[in-house]
Amino acid sequence: MKTSKDEEKPKYLTIESIPGIGPVTARKLRELGFNTIESLAMATVRELEQAGIKDKRAFEIINAARSSISLSFVRADELLKMRRNILRLTTGSRKLDELLGGGIETQTITEFYGEYGSGKSQIAHQLCVNVQLPPERGGLGGGALYIDTENTFRAERIVQMAKHLELDPEEVLKNIILAEAYTSDHQMFLLENSDKIIKENNIRLIVIDSLTAHFRSEYLGRESLAARQQKLNKHMHKLIKLARAFNAAAVVTNQVMSSPDVFFGESIRPIGGHIVAHTSHTRIFLRKARKGPVRVARLVSSPYLPEGEQLFKITENGIEDVEEEG
Ligand SMILES: Nc1ncnc2c1ncn2[C@@H]1O[C@H](COP(=O)(O)OP(=O)(O)OP(=O)(O)O)[C@@H](O)[C@H]1O
Ligand SMILES: [Mg+2]
Repeated sequence: MKTSKDEEKPKYLTIESIPGIGPVTARKLRELGFNTIESLAMATVRELEQAGIKDKRAFEIINAARSSISLSFVRADELLKMRRNILRLTTGSRKLDELLGGGIETQTITEFYGEYGSGKSQIAHQLCVNVQLPPERGGLGGGALYIDTENTFRAERIVQMAKHLELDPEEVLKNIILAEAYTSDHQMFLLENSDKIIKENNIRLIVIDSLTAHFRSEYLGRESLAARQQKLNKHMHKLIKLARAFNAAAVVTNQVMSSPDVFFGESIRPIGGHIVAHTSHTRIFLRKARKGPVRVARLVSSPYLPEGEQLFKITENGIEDVEEEG
């Protein structure tokens, strides 16, 4: 992403330091969740209009923020360099990492869907611990933000997993910021206002567990479907912008529903339909293999990886490989 002209570009530290943003505008922007240069760089002109900023000025502000973090029009070769900035986070299972092409990618959304008890939240917990590992151990050397919609997060489980990795459980817990979302609007609000927390705490993993539960229970019936999809779409776009701005991994969980149309062979489908399908770049379907701790992970869609399946297991230690038999 960096060009030879980088040195000449001004570096702004706070949103007020951008020309055209005075204290009043800064306050309005903060109210809209734009606390950092990084999130302003990902804003749209329409979003800034809500802060009373006219389109021409909004355009200039966004451009100033973009050039400050060296984000502008990119040539294809530079795009490749941007791709090189993508990092990978281990799931704890070598096989599952393999299925994902080396682990969970930063700058993109990874969705785990499956029925209850299939291991979605367990993987989410494990990633909150693993993200804190140094890169040589498969981590990103950063913290985690966990948006919890169903009161699923368990600190005790984090302690178990941290001990197994010989990490100090107290320290590990300190690096996980928990945000409980009570409604879908609250969930969206939390994410929209998370940029400062992400920056200040060196957050490299954003978890939303579950992405769809509130939306599903609040938007009932056919007539509210369009509104639900629109909101989910907006929510996912905010997530992808944050993941790109902070080179973080974004992981969401999703329940499944039985689909009445058996014509397409799938009796189980993730909630959220095509909106979630289009915005989430990597989707993994989880299911129980047989009785016991073994789970099957199926890579259902990815921008560049082939479909495939791998086994892993959930034990007291966390997410692990299944021992080879024989
Ligand atoms: N400490 C532990 N030791 C071993 N296995 C555990 C432990 N904690 C959880 N598990 C396993 O993980 C399962 C729960 O998985 P998880 O909570 O991730 O499901 P989920 O996919 O998030 O389900 P839901 O849709 O209800 O949120 C348990 O049924 C159990 O098999
Ligand atoms: Mg769960």
